[in-house]
Amino acid sequence: MGISRVESLIYGVTDIDSGIRYFENWGLENVEKGASGAIFKTPTNQTIHIKSKDNPSLPSAPDDENSTVRQTIWGVETAADLEKIGAEMSIDREVKLNPDNSIQVTDECGFSLGFCIGKVKELKALPSRVNLNENSERLNAVVESLPQAKPLRLGHVVYYVPIEKADKAVSFYIDRLGFRLSDRTLGRGDFMRCPGSRDHHNLFLLRRKDKAAFNHAAFEVQNFDEIMMGGVFMKNNGWQPETTPGRHVLGSNLYWYFRNPCGGNTEYFADMDCMDDDWEPRIWDKNPGFSLWSISDPD
Ligand SMILES: [Fe+2]
Repeated sequence: MGISRVESLIYGVTDIDSGIRYFENWGLENVEKGASGAIFKTPTNQTIHIKSKDNPSLPSAPDDENSTVRQTIWGVETAADLEKIGAEMSIDREVKLNPDNSIQVTDECGFSLGFCIGKVKELKALPSRVNLNENSERLNAVVESLPQAKPLRLGHVVYYVPIEKADKAVSFYIDRLGFRLSDRTLGRGDFMRCPGSRDHHNLFLLRRKDKAAFNHAAFEVQNFDEIMMGGVFMKNNGWQPETTPGRHVLGSNLYWYFRNPCGGNTEYFADMDCMDDDWEPRIWDKNPGFSLWSISDPD
């Protein structure tokens, strides 16, 4: 099945303490922290690494003059998958083999990618129970207040890619790494899912005129209540929203974005479209829009 998910993100940042406070407030479990950085974990065992942007172990990135993601590591299912990717990549680029057997390459736009065997922790997440008319799924139970969000997993990453490199960048992920196209908005961007995932997208390459840059990382939560309660907690802790809450057109997911001092934004999302090989990719001549609806926020 090949690549199944984002396994890890490695940030290089100017202010480690703010980065740690941000991801603590975001609701991820901190498994390591100190003056030189920190590691956070999702319940499905994906990791977020925060390091100083000047750490010599970090690969370069197109936008690394500021805090940003310096490497995205994709998880694969088997050693054979890893070997296959290594062989494919070695056709036209340098493949670095790390001591832990993961491999590292650079994509068409200068972003560093890693590949490793995923350390997936299965999570038996049950959908929220809702009541509707005579259907009392949530019988004799109340909706609980949450002190903060607790994201289940890291679902997708989004990068800006320069227009002149965009077609080649998309082809690299689809033709070389097996990603599937879910939606394409001509001149705007491509939503792709890993070959081993049913998410509408695990990767979105968003076209813009100037240089490549990291845009956002998205974390799945249970439902809209958790987006709202988690987002309000973030606001109360001084973090700036990038958007108001809403529901996207492409992917259909509920969202709320915040500005991450580690670089780019993070998104709480819930209830995204899922698809398999029966899904026909949609090609949009005109951008169908950012949101089906959004909350207008006077703040
Ligand atoms: Fe997103």
